[in-house]
Amino acid sequence: MAFMESNKFSLLALLVLGVYVSVTASRALNEASMSDKHKQWMLEHGRTYKDVAETQHRFEIFKKNVEFIDSFNAGDHKFKLGPNLFADLTNEEFRAMYNGFRLSSTDSSKAKSSFKYENSTDVPESMDWRTKGAVTHVKNQGQCGCCWAFSAVAAMEGVTKLSTDNLISLSEQEVVDCDVDEEDNGCHGGWPSGAFKFIIKNGGLTTETNYPYTETQGTCNIEKATSHAAQISGYEDVPANNEAALLMAVANQPVSVAINGGGYAFQLYSNGVFSGPCGFKLDHAVTAVGYGQDSDGTKYWLVKNSWGESWGENGYIRMERDVGYDQGLCGIAMHASYPTA
Ligand SMILES: *[C@@H]1O[C@H](CO)[C@@H](O)[C@H](O)[C@H]1NC(C)=O
Repeated sequence: MAFMESNKFSLLALLVLGVYVSVTASRALNEASMSDKHKQWMLEHGRTYKDVAETQHRFEIFKKNVEFIDSFNAGDHKFKLGPNLFADLTNEEFRAMYNGFRLSSTDSSKAKSSFKYENSTDVPESMDWRTKGAVTHVKNQGQCGCCWAFSAVAAMEGVTKLSTDNLISLSEQEVVDCDVDEEDNGCHGGWPSGAFKFIIKNGGLTTETNYPYTETQGTCNIEKATSHAAQISGYEDVPANNEAALLMAVANQPVSVAINGGGYAFQLYSNGVFSGPCGFKLDHAVTAVGYGQDSDGTKYWLVKNSWGESWGENGYIRMERDVGYDQGLCGIAMHASYPTA
């Protein structure tokens, strides 16, 4: 009996120990594979850290992000998240570094109220300005909050292609360096419409090649800034809080839009039709370069971002369209504008 008892006990102990060992082992294995994932990710994104402490700190953030990605992707959503280039940043760090749309209290950048597409009947079922050759490659603003310049330049590249038939990659750096209007503040935020105002006053914009991007605000190079490759004559605001009006504009040309792009899901977006969560606090500027409808019927805006090709769908995001409230998803219909040839 005693023997049996002791045998039972040791069997139980063995079982408990076994479970304990296997849990610890699998946790260690998870840690190891997570650490491998992090190393793999660092290689893919060319990321290095200054020391062991920084590596450990970034690993912890990466791990938390991957856990969020996995639990999100296990749910039922129209889009997936993934460990993209922002996977080792907390959401607070991400927002501080990449969102440079500045909403001033007095919106002095408002254009005159005219909206040239108000009676437009030319609104096809879907539009993708990339297939019309009106969109340049996806650019990367890096760690400079000048999304506003990238948004405006992409819209200007579009209207330039439509009016001259030439697709020219134009200079964001010229806008960042030379638009010293108090509304616009280089890497610390600005307005796409402020960029349009500068470009009109300046008489045009030079090419990306002539005035390349440096990821920082420098002194305006007057010689380059007066060597124009393209011009615009004006800009107009799309009537605010009206997705139908935005549709008429985007049906006719690429349009600068402001969005709330600081959310955790937006940071780690990978593919599919993004449907939030996000708010209406406009903190990022991008360019709407089309629209369409997914195979499951979900309508979307096709949006060009300036975070390189490794974010989202090769640098693009599809954002849900016709959401049923005026501001549009993430406020996409709140502050849209476009240049005129
Ligand atoms: C749109 O149509 C209305 C009514 O015909 C007209 O008054 C307005 O000028 C038109 N707008 C544009 C931009 O052509």
